Amino acid sequence: MGKLLVTGATGNLGRLTLEILLERLPAEQLAGLSRTPERAADLAERGVDIRQGDYFDYVSLIKAFEGVDRLLLVSAQAFTDRNMQHYNAITAAKHAGVEHVIYTSIQRDEELGINQVGVTESDVFTEQTLRASGLTYTILRNPMYLDQFEGYIGADAYEKGVRVPPGDGTMAPALLRDLAAGNAAVLTEDGHENKTYTLNGSEAASYRDIAAVLSEIHGTTVPYLPVAVEEYLESHVEKGLPRPVAEFLTAWVAGVGLGSFSKSTDDLERLIGYRPTSYREFLEKNYPAVGPRAKDAAASGA
Ligand SMILES: NC(=O)c1ccc[n+]([C@@H]2O[C@H](COP(=O)([O-])OP(=O)(O)OC[C@H]3O[C@@H](n4cnc5c(N)ncnc54)[C@H](OP(=O)(O)O)[C@@H]3O)[C@@H](O)[C@H]2O)c1
Repeated sequence: MGKLLVTGATGNLGRLTLEILLERLPAEQLAGLSRTPERAADLAERGVDIRQGDYFDYVSLIKAFEGVDRLLLVSAQAFTDRNMQHYNAITAAKHAGVEHVIYTSIQRDEELGINQVGVTESDVFTEQTLRASGLTYTILRNPMYLDQFEGYIGADAYEKGVRVPPGDGTMAPALLRDLAAGNAAVLTEDGHENKTYTLNGSEAASYRDIAAVLSEIHGTTVPYLPVAVEEYLESHVEKGLPRPVAEFLTAWVAGVGLGSFSKSTDDLERLIGYRPTSYREFLEKNYPAVGPRAKDAAASGA
């Protein structure tokens, strides 16, 4: 039997996926990809076959994918040529004899047709390329990461309210660890061939709902105070984000309000066999990430 290979092995999602796979399979069945394998030396020490490869270097990918049966293609970063990188990875997988490629896309609402700058067009291209490749595929449309949630609503909602662009759209963000468990399930189980799943945390909420939940947690009223898209954008530029990054963040946060992430499913729960962490549970323990509550949580071992 060939190996299971995870790309982005040094990143948040790829590394967590390999950690979960290591709990289930002998390490010799596992491989990971990195441009700089030294960054994954700890995984190599545990027996994972860390291979060198760069999405921009087609030949390196063919070599790295040798002897691999199933491959998790962790999507390349925004602000780079994702079309070229994903095209290279899929065609190299085909060339190397990989049977099944699993791609981490981003959730979108096809009918609304909102174009998340830097992401949607390349996700559509990648999904089409994969479906047309003749490879067995699974597409995992990821929600927003709960782990990065504070970046969207700010760390100061208890003082200033939930100040985000307007809209009643909902989202059910998920923990990276739960998404990694979903990746591991698709890599190790049969039955997910040629399927497209939308992965979510276990509870959907609008920004108004989030303000209400923060009010419950904190015991004071945390208002929902929608602000103009421009104001949200400029506030992040003032905090020091480079303008293109602030524009990227703003498009995501505004997209939630407009409904890009509203169509939640229980696909993730069915994949992992347990209820994924909800935003409510996450906020109770982890918001804000730094400050008195975070210290309380650390002291109580939460
Ligand atoms: N759903 C969400 O809310 C959300 C949020 C952020 C990002 N994302 C998407 O999800 C992906 C994974 O997120 P993450 O947090 O795990 O990202 P991350 O921690 O930044 O990791 C990115 C990984 O991609 C690898 N990589 C980057 N460029 C590469 C290249 N040219 N060739 C081969 N590998 C390359 C890096 O490996 P080396 O540097 O070791 O080569 C690294 O392991 C992101 O890339 C992005 O597309 C989604």
